[in-house]
Amino acid sequence: MTQPNTESTHLSHYPELEAKQSTWQHQFEKGALQNQTILVTGAGDGIGRATAMTYASFGANVILLGRTRSKLENVFDWIETNTETSPVIVPCDLENLDSETVDNLADSIAENFGQLDGLVHNASHLGPKVPIAHYPADEWQKVMQINVNAVFMLNKGLFELLDKSADACVIHTSSSVGRQGRAYWGAYAASKFALEGLSQLFADETETAGRIGVYSVNPGGTRTAMRREAYPLEDPAILPTAEDHMELYLALMCPQDCVSGNVVHFTTGQQLDARNWLENSQ
Ligand SMILES: NC(=O)c1ccc[n+]([C@@H]2O[C@H](COP(=O)([O-])OP(=O)(O)OC[C@H]3O[C@@H](n4cnc5c(N)ncnc54)[C@H](OP(=O)(O)O)[C@@H]3O)[C@@H](O)[C@H]2O)c1
Repeated sequence: MTQPNTESTHLSHYPELEAKQSTWQHQFEKGALQNQTILVTGAGDGIGRATAMTYASFGANVILLGRTRSKLENVFDWIETNTETSPVIVPCDLENLDSETVDNLADSIAENFGQLDGLVHNASHLGPKVPIAHYPADEWQKVMQINVNAVFMLNKGLFELLDKSADACVIHTSSSVGRQGRAYWGAYAASKFALEGLSQLFADETETAGRIGVYSVNPGGTRTAMRREAYPLEDPAILPTAEDHMELYLALMCPQDCVSGNVVHFTTGQQLDARNWLENSQ
């Protein structure tokens, strides 16, 4: 059990994260992500919102991609007020993502930042929880489009920008049902299996060059809107918060020389489990 660190930190603007930081086994330099550009999808809510706010708090310029403009604007305003970084908003419904939109996004990142150091595929659509025999075909297509096809298109279209970074990191956000199928999880489960495959392919293809670390992370049950939708009767108070997972998200994204404490080396292609990580770090 790690003893809480009672020293004041640079995270006083983000009390939910500061409270967790005192229990972390790893500490990250205040500017660990300075000059890094990181795109987070689904950055307006839940785990994506916490990830964007955390990375900005450690110096990254965060590109906030998401569906609901007002939610992205809230995160943008928080980052502008509380950090010295330069966030960017990209309102985008991934259901309608096409090559032209990805090319425009790549051009805009190239022009403004020159390269991309991190890409967090976090946005996801749950779809209905019904048996395959009753699963609506249009919902199946929608889930696959948002959770898999859009991820493929972003990896493809942003690859050159990731490859320009000396040490880029791509995180694919998976799920327990993407590693072991379970009744009624339908397209969501199938999409997360596909995402795991995509993560492994991308890791294998980029391993030799050694410039991009590619991972899949299963957050496990986390106190967010999606979890409430999947388990409406569950007491959210029993679940970890998104901020509980931020030590892992920082450990994956931060350069090794900015991390102190019980340093862990990740292997590209690795499948990580945030709940295990959390339990082992306390
Ligand atoms: N929470 C859990 O217990 C849990 C467990 C396992 C895996 N996960 C995974 O963790 C990731 C984050 O989920 P969460 O729990 O943080 O969910 P959340 O709070 O519902 O957030 C999901 C985010 O994805 C965005 N999004 C959904 N559809 C989109 C679309 N078509 N285009 C663009 N953005 C879209 C949402 O935007 P809007 O808010 O604008 O709709 C929202 O910002 C997901 O990949 C999920 O599968 C979560």
